[in-house]
Amino acid sequence: MTDKKKILLSGVKPTGRPHIGNYFGAMKQFADLQDEYDARVFIADYHAITTVQNAAELSRNTLDVALDYLAIGIDPKKTLLFKQSDLPELCELAWIFNCITTMPYLMRAHAYKDAEAKNKEINVGIFDYPILMTADILIQDADAVPVGQDQKQHVEYARDTAEKFNRIFGETFKLPNSLILDHVKIIPGTDGQKMSKSYGNTIALFAEFEDIKKAVMSIPTNSQGVDESKDPEKDNIFALHKHFADAEEIEEIEKRYTNGGLGYKESKEILISNIEKFIAPLREKRKEFAKDEDAVRKMLKENGEKAREIALSKMKEVKKAVGLY
Ligand code: AMP
Ligand code: TRP
Repeated sequence: MTDKKKILLSGVKPTGRPHIGNYFGAMKQFADLQDEYDARVFIADYHAITTVQNAAELSRNTLDVALDYLAIGIDPKKTLLFKQSDLPELCELAWIFNCITTMPYLMRAHAYKDAEAKNKEINVGIFDYPILMTADILIQDADAVPVGQDQKQHVEYARDTAEKFNRIFGETFKLPNSLILDHVKIIPGTDGQKMSKSYGNTIALFAEFEDIKKAVMSIPTNSQGVDESKDPEKDNIFALHKHFADAEEIEEIEKRYTNGGLGYKESKEILISNIEKFIAPLREKRKEFAKDEDAVRKMLKENGEKAREIALSKMKEVKKAVGLY
């Protein structure tokens, strides 16, 4: 008997270049788990319109994320790799969910509260962001949603909404779970805060050597000298070593910090060299895929059609449950 594989679904917004926080926190899992799961990965271009409001930029970013996915090893033969906007039914489903969602419930979303605390202009798309994300997840009957810690609450919105819909209209949706790996749930940026496009503290996933160097050199350090004993857990350079050095090297760096003898300059040089070793092959692979963008667009279109069939079939069930027939 062949067990049916569980369904994995996740996406990344095409809002700029991905960074190593996106990679370790989420994208790496998409590639690592594509054999084990029935994997579906998409480019969240509808979500991106909340901030990217320029046609050429959105279209370029979308293709860029497709190239990023391919370069990190997502294999379109194993993973259904598609663009969110090829499934217009997502907007239809989001509307239905809107009608069973209260405003105070959405006002509790961290992303909304943060934007409000910063007095940002909040469009309705940003406010409703968790509901469109809920539609992404539930239309696919996803079991597992690999994401970084900052998206955990959004997956809970999807779970709650599935429960609520099932209660009102009858059993229709599966309850999804987020898949968050503890050691990579929040990758720190060069300033020690969470690495984020909006904080300007990122190291780009496909950075050129000079950019890696610049980013690492900008990590602030205190004035302790080479020979002084340092607490590795209080150092932003060490926090990044953990993701780029092997276990043996991490232990060695840790010892040299604690015993004294490792200065921040050398520590940064080690980090630059390790990041370059990790990124160089990814950068090369990406350049290869970028030579044939037409093939990538064709692949997205074909996969978009397959993903849409899944969506249409689920929507039949939903519309029947709601009475839209
Ligand atoms: P985004 O670029 O906002 O679409 O994020 C894509 C994915 O990367 C999401 O699953 C985020 O949770 C994850 N992510 C973003 N920043 C970090 C970080 N600093 N550490 C871990 N995961 C992250
Ligand atoms: N909100 C996610 C982010 O900012 C992107 C996303 C949109 C997503 N829809 C999703 C992730 C569905 C997982 C599942 O990173």
